[in-house]
Formats: sequence, structure tokens, C-alpha cells
Amino acid sequence: MLIIREAKLEDLKVVHQLEEELFGQHSYPLFVLRQLFDITNDLFLIAEVSGAVAGYAIGHYNAEQEEGWLLSLAVHPVHRGKRIGEQLTATLAEALKAKGARTMLLTVHPENAPALRIYQQAGFTTTQLYPDYYLDNSPRWLMVKTL
Ligand SMILES: CC(C)(COP(=O)(O)OP(=O)(O)OC[C@H]1O[C@@H](n2cnc3c(N)ncnc32)[C@H](O)[C@@H]1OP(=O)(O)O)[C@@H](O)C(=O)NCCC(=O)NCCS
Repeated sequence: MLIIREAKLEDLKVVHQLEEELFGQHSYPLFVLRQLFDITNDLFLIAEVSGAVAGYAIGHYNAEQEEGWLLSLAVHPVHRGKRIGEQLTATLAEALKAKGARTMLLTVHPENAPALRIYQQAGFTTTQLYPDYYLDNSPRWLMVKTL
């Protein structure tokens, strides 16, 4: 059974392992995850299946701009295709809206078909293509959704 819940400190090492496996040079180091855990509070979500971490989404809310971000989304390869990514994205969008966010933003690699599919289905639209978003010649679409 799938549960989406707030992250706990004990989850961070598993999240870090997944980050490294899936994002390689663009993964968050453990100490950054620890700091994100402290500042994102209830916007750091864990998808749990049978007691194990199957995926996660990390969000951020900027109250001044009334803007929310999806900073990171990942699902463990053995749990792919079960709509966990879709549900994490939807749960984060609801949580951001409840805090007062009027728009939600994210960036995604133009060739990341599964992620683009989730975001388009969730109502995000591509706004601007950054050819060098991470300052290492790695392109990203900026996508935005009105909440
Ligand atoms: C992107 C990711 C989170 C998707 O998670 P998931 O739980 O497997 O996705 P879902 O089951 O919710 O699938 C949602 C949609 O994507 C589609 N999809 C899934 N895998 C796909 C693939 N390899 N190619 C194309 N579409 C795919 C699904 O068919 C579904 O669309 P549908 O409603 O038209 O059938 C997962 O592939 C992942 O962790 N990738 C590596 C990390 C990453 O790229 N994160 C996003 C960074 S922006």
C-alpha cells in the first residue's frame, strides 16, 4: 500500500542513495538534504510502500512571491509506472496551495519523457528553455502551473 507522508530524519540516507543513483552529478549531497529537511518542513514528502521509501518529492514555498517549487522528484526504479510520481507531484501541489501558493514551478531536462509526461498531465506548461540552467551546459525547461 502506498502512503505519502512527511519525511523523517531517518529517511535521508535512503533519499541520498536514490539521489546519487538517479541524478549523478546533479544529486544533492547528504548535508544539503539535511538542510533542505530543516527548511522545507512538511514539503519534503516521502512515498512509502510496504514500509520502505519508494520515492520522494522536495518542495519549497516562497510566501513573499506566493510561489511554490518542486525542487526534486524521484521514484525508485522498482516502483516506477505505479503513478507514485504523479501522486507525489499532486500532493505537493495541494500542500503548496494550502500554504497560499498561486503558482508552482519546476525545471526538467527536455529529454526526460516520464517526468515531462507527469508535469504536462498535472497542468504544468513549459515557459522557457534554459540551455545552461545549472551552469554546466545542461538544459532545462522551466515549467509553471497555476494553482
Ligand atoms: C520521473 C519519475 C519520477 C516518474 O515516476 P513514476 O512513478 O514511474 O511515474 P508515474 O507512474 O506517475 O507515471 C506518470 C506518467 O508518466 C508515464 N511514464 C512513466 N514512465 C515513462 C517512460 N519511461 N517514458 C514515457 N512515459 C513514462 C506514465 O505512462 C504516465 O503517463 P500516462 O498517464 O500517460 O500513462 C521516475 O521515472 C524517476 O524517478 N525518474 C528519475 C528521476 C527524475 O527524472 N525525476 C524528475 C526530475 S525533473
